[in-house]
Amino acid sequence: MSAKKWTKIEEILDGKKTDETVNIRGWIYRTRSSGNIVFIILRDSTGILQTTVKRGSLPDKEFDDAKKALIESSVELTGSVKKDDRAPGGYEIQVSRFHVVHFAEPFPITKDHSEEFLLDVRHLWLRSQKMTNILRVRSKIFEASHKFLRNHGYIEVQPPIFTTSGSEGGATIFELKYFDKKAYLSQSWQLYAENIIMAVEKAYCIAPSFRAEKSRTPRHVTEFWHLEVEEAWASMREMLTLGEKLISHICKTVAKECKRELTVLGQDPKKLEKITVPFPEITYDQAIQILQKKGHPIEYGKDLGILEERKLVENHDKPLVVTHYPKEIMAFYKKKDPSNPRVTLNFNIIANEMGDEILDGSERESDINEIIKSLKEQGSNPKDFSFYLDSRRYGSVPHSGFGLGLDRVVMWICKLDTIKDAIPFPRTINRIYP
Ligand code: 4AD
Ligand code: MG
Repeated sequence: MSAKKWTKIEEILDGKKTDETVNIRGWIYRTRSSGNIVFIILRDSTGILQTTVKRGSLPDKEFDDAKKALIESSVELTGSVKKDDRAPGGYEIQVSRFHVVHFAEPFPITKDHSEEFLLDVRHLWLRSQKMTNILRVRSKIFEASHKFLRNHGYIEVQPPIFTTSGSEGGATIFELKYFDKKAYLSQSWQLYAENIIMAVEKAYCIAPSFRAEKSRTPRHVTEFWHLEVEEAWASMREMLTLGEKLISHICKTVAKECKRELTVLGQDPKKLEKITVPFPEITYDQAIQILQKKGHPIEYGKDLGILEERKLVENHDKPLVVTHYPKEIMAFYKKKDPSNPRVTLNFNIIANEMGDEILDGSERESDINEIIKSLKEQGSNPKDFSFYLDSRRYGSVPHSGFGLGLDRVVMWICKLDTIKDAIPFPRTINRIYP
């Protein structure tokens, strides 16, 4: 006997199986019965579909089981596909066999959809249509990123997660005991990357980064997935162009390959198709002028926070690039602009609509003395950065890189109110379970 063939709900919704008899399996999403008929909405990983179970169309025992099975019970069924405009998605299945694989206990998620409750039962809430669609789009975003960078000749190099020094400052570093030494969870792969590129020239990674963020904002988590690129010989301009192309490629791929998911999530794929390069671009100085003109109180020298970033992208339909921030508020590795040493050769990309920084990059300082000076100014001991400084001791070259916060990209593309919904099991200052 040949093995049973299983049809995915997606294929039925795409109209590929109309009037055929199919086998499908999944979980009960909704159920309602009246007398001798049960309406069951079934879900699998690809969508939801209405099924109708009528007494007399299948063995009595199977009808009784269908009637008894609660939400989230797992089932396998056989039936014929009919077009029906009244059914959600336009199709339904008339069931001829119904097998309950497991009778679920009463499912805890009913009416209470408060954010905290849904985070408490995150492992179960992942089954919702919203989370399933987000996970599918998220996977496509990761896939598109890998493909784009590999097609452009970047080598994937995995960074360590246990580290001995941070790149982004002490305030957000997680310290831990590493046998009899102190260690830190990686904030960024950058210090390693600047050595890696002296070997492979063009490198990238997609890995978790950790930040002990005490702020409870909708865009900060303590563990996030960081796409980072580093390239020898590359200028700030070349890296910025690469970052814009990468973001545009992600948007177009998702628009093409996740149409249904995006539409369910309230995102218009057509809008994403229009995220083409180049993005509009201003300098930090211009940003301050624009903000002051809009009546927003900000002085030169202050970093741009969420309020400022939101104001800057008001009415934009593409991300906005802001370049050349003041040296004093930038990390020690960012290169001073030779034509204006008050600022660095850096760039941030702010997502339109969401109004949050998604990408942060720069040309790197190649002069070891400048770096040592900046390290001392921020209160760090250059000795702790000795391996990093070696990249400037043995054949230092101009180079640039960036970091893209992939969870923020998911949040932006899926139009989510909080970054937590972009992540299957989000970690924040007050949540590490489940
Ligand atoms: O701006 P950040 O801190 O820059 C760096 O870490 C550089 N070393 C990157 C590089 O040049 N290789 O982080 C980069 C991006 C931010 O633009 C943001 O999108 C994301 O990472 N990010 C966070 N996402 C979620 N939660 C947090 N706490 C984040 N912190 C940064
Ligand atoms: Mg930043």
